[in-house]
Amino acid sequence: MADPLHNEFPPDSVEAKDLAHVFHPTTNLKLHAQTGPVVHDRAAGVYLWDNQGKQYLEGMAGLWCTALGYGEEELVRVAQEQLRKLSYSQLFGGKTNEPSVLLAEKLKAMAPFDADRVFFGLSGSDANDTQMKLMWYYNNAVGRPEKKKIISRLRGYHGVTVAAGSLTGLPHFHGHFDLPITGVLHTDAPHYYRGAEEGESETAFVTRVVGNLEALIEREGAETIAAFIAEPVLGAGGVIVPPAGYYEAVQAVLRKHDIFFIDDEVICGFGRTGQPFGAQAMNIEPTTMSVAKALSSAYLPISAVLVPEFMYEPMAELSGEVGTFGHGFTYSGHPVCAAVALRTLEIMEERAIFEHAARMGVAMQGGLRAFAEHPLVGEVRGVGLIGAIELVEEKASRKPFSAKRGVGAYCAQRCLEHGLIVRNLGDSIAFCPPLIITDTQVDEMLGKFGRALDDTAAWISAS
Ligand SMILES: Cc1ncc(COP(=O)(O)O)c(C=O)c1O
Repeated sequence: MADPLHNEFPPDSVEAKDLAHVFHPTTNLKLHAQTGPVVHDRAAGVYLWDNQGKQYLEGMAGLWCTALGYGEEELVRVAQEQLRKLSYSQLFGGKTNEPSVLLAEKLKAMAPFDADRVFFGLSGSDANDTQMKLMWYYNNAVGRPEKKKIISRLRGYHGVTVAAGSLTGLPHFHGHFDLPITGVLHTDAPHYYRGAEEGESETAFVTRVVGNLEALIEREGAETIAAFIAEPVLGAGGVIVPPAGYYEAVQAVLRKHDIFFIDDEVICGFGRTGQPFGAQAMNIEPTTMSVAKALSSAYLPISAVLVPEFMYEPMAELSGEVGTFGHGFTYSGHPVCAAVALRTLEIMEERAIFEHAARMGVAMQGGLRAFAEHPLVGEVRGVGLIGAIELVEEKASRKPFSAKRGVGAYCAQRCLEHGLIVRNLGDSIAFCPPLIITDTQVDEMLGKFGRALDDTAAWISAS
């Protein structure tokens, strides 16, 4: 399929070799074979350059992850030092290393709930797989072997591995992969703009969707359900900020039925929403928490699952009875990743990054809302430094464009032409710049987007 000879790229180019050799994740592979790749070459701060020398403002923090921007020398230094001192060690069988220990201590101190233990992995997906296995192991340990199902939400995104991919509530991640696995249930997305019935108020919408959640729990039997998993603000599903009162109502139902709350902070954690964690922005009281991405500002892969003492103790007890806690990765507690993550969190404190991000978030949200009157804009949503603009065919009726027209993709492409990286989630254009972005750079981002939006409107009128 990918035949570089049918492309204009020279055979020795990175582009041609990419087309010949690389199997791209989360990509339209057929289209990629025709269009070829964009080669990222270097980056500094909030800017990135391709191999043609074109500069882009990074409006998506990579994949919602490069919180401190690119080229942070302090992280380079720490990585180098740790690589020289102890390039690898493990946490299996009771071995440990100082960076992992200090990072676990730091995460517990920062966590918005009473966390007792920190389990390390490498990605958001493996963190959420671990979450699911911990729910199973814990419930076996406390003699509730029936209490195993996990409720997730449509349009939620929790990763792509078999368990995490099942928790994800987006069709592309299920179809043809034979997911979801049994034991995963999906409930409504808390998206008022798209989910509300004719004339329904936000309060009535919350009552209805939370009522649906409770009905699902009662249908399945609360004694079969271990946990509910949620991103405080849904990211890849379109940047959805649930309406006021939603999480309070959800948590009241969960408490009533003794169901845990797994807080997926993989995007929201570490300042993204204007608060240290999404839980604080959205008034969530987590039972357990997953973090990744900004944890190391994406300098190296690392994730963590935080659990309370009341869960850890019976699991430790069970591991004693059976001989081992049989879950862990070769790279759980990788000392270089842990050292870089620890320094990332220290830098965030030293430079008051969360406070800065909260201020920039106000500027960005204000700027995004200024587009609300544009004829193509259906909804502007977001909180802190995460936001989205949903493009629609008819503003008044909220009629979406036919997916085949690829309006969101066109707009994102125009943004690229203007030197701005954004991501289209269907026809919603997502914004999630590095937390270090400045006022001037927020203005630059919005200005570039405005030009791309006008180009998109002109293209639609002409087509
Ligand atoms: C909320 C959330 N959870 C989990 C994941 C999965 O993380 P990873 O891609 O590191 O496996 C993502 C990735 O975007 C995410 O946004």
